[in-house]
Amino acid sequence: MAVRRLAPEAVQPKEFSFTPQTEAWTKELVAKYPQGRQASAVIPLLWRVQSDCGGWLPQKAIEAVSERLEMPYIRVYEVATFYTMFNLEPVGKFYVQMCGTTPCMLRGSNEIRKVLEERVGPQQSVSEDGMFSWLEVECLGACCNAPMVQINDDYYEDLTPENFNKLLDDLAAGKKVNIGSQAGRKSSEPEGDVKTLTDPALYDGSVVGSWRKRFEEEAAQRAAEEKAKAEQEKADKGKGDAGKGETKAKSEAKSETKAEAEVRKVDKEAAVAPKKGHPDAGRATERPVAEAPAQQKAAGEEPLDLEAEDKEIAEKLAALHKDASPEDKANAVGSRPKALKKPRKDKPDDLKKINGIGPANADKLHNLGIYHYDQIAQWGRPEIRWVGQFLSFAGRIDREDWVGQAKTLAASDDKS
Ligand code: FES
Repeated sequence: MAVRRLAPEAVQPKEFSFTPQTEAWTKELVAKYPQGRQASAVIPLLWRVQSDCGGWLPQKAIEAVSERLEMPYIRVYEVATFYTMFNLEPVGKFYVQMCGTTPCMLRGSNEIRKVLEERVGPQQSVSEDGMFSWLEVECLGACCNAPMVQINDDYYEDLTPENFNKLLDDLAAGKKVNIGSQAGRKSSEPEGDVKTLTDPALYDGSVVGSWRKRFEEEAAQRAAEEKAKAEQEKADKGKGDAGKGETKAKSEAKSETKAEAEVRKVDKEAAVAPKKGHPDAGRATERPVAEAPAQQKAAGEEPLDLEAEDKEIAEKLAALHKDASPEDKANAVGSRPKALKKPRKDKPDDLKKINGIGPANADKLHNLGIYHYDQIAQWGRPEIRWVGQFLSFAGRIDREDWVGQAKTLAASDDKS
């Protein structure tokens, strides 16, 4: 980065005044800003004045700008000396700003610098014929076509010592030159043939499709392996049962007796528990003991195998078309619960008392015609599966035991 100072006294003009055109232009420019904020116009005004002065800013011009904008001279001087877009010394007819930052350096900007030093001389000096001057600057944002220079208002890219020399010759001779890449590139397209992202499969969907196919195949294989394993376990169990005979029958009888004893114990506890004065306004927060597998078995019910049920649901869903609607999916795995057109006596129960049902879920249930505890209390597996699937929270109804809670609430006097 070059040191930025005003030009020596010897080259400074003795006076400066705005041209009538610049005066009129300045009036319009300043009017764009609120009263008292005319200092905001300092950069465009310095830029205009620089152009009027042949590409640089004499001290008298900086002073004129500060007076015109009613700014202290030092404030305008700070701006003029800070930005490299403002030249503080006379420049050639063609002012070359050469990028010397890393990408341009790696691509040959040192060779371009040599050309300038040989043809024009040191930085910030004007060639003898007054045609050229140059300055090394930081990245000008055209790194992809490095090395590059800016000459007056235009960029010239993909430079080599040869094409740059020719470019300077043509400019000096007043010939028309090509702006942009000197190697024939359009914008920042790759040099020569395109070398990346050339596989047509990237654009016909087959690459993405093959990944997807692989995932589907792996998932199907896993499902088949699990199924085979389950069948094997079932077959092994069958053989073992046949061999054990009477001994096992005795053992089962013994375990049933034990389970029955547990049920009796629970019933006894329930009988002594106070029905009213529920500490949480009827919320049941734990899964009822009577639904534990041992008790279900003792009650003559098949214990619930949620894992197997999940697997069955997954298989049914997998068999559906991929565009199946939420209702199609719910119908495939369960049965829609009986609905009411409106709440009985126009007074729905407060479903939010069921742990796990918030305002949003209560609204969703209302939309399904479910308004009362006793409706939920009657749900069996098909209804639980349907609602769980339809509302996209499969498993949650069981985990939070909505049905058990609803039974408690329906039996309670507290339905407010
Ligand atoms: S490094 Fe030269 S234009 Fe960016």
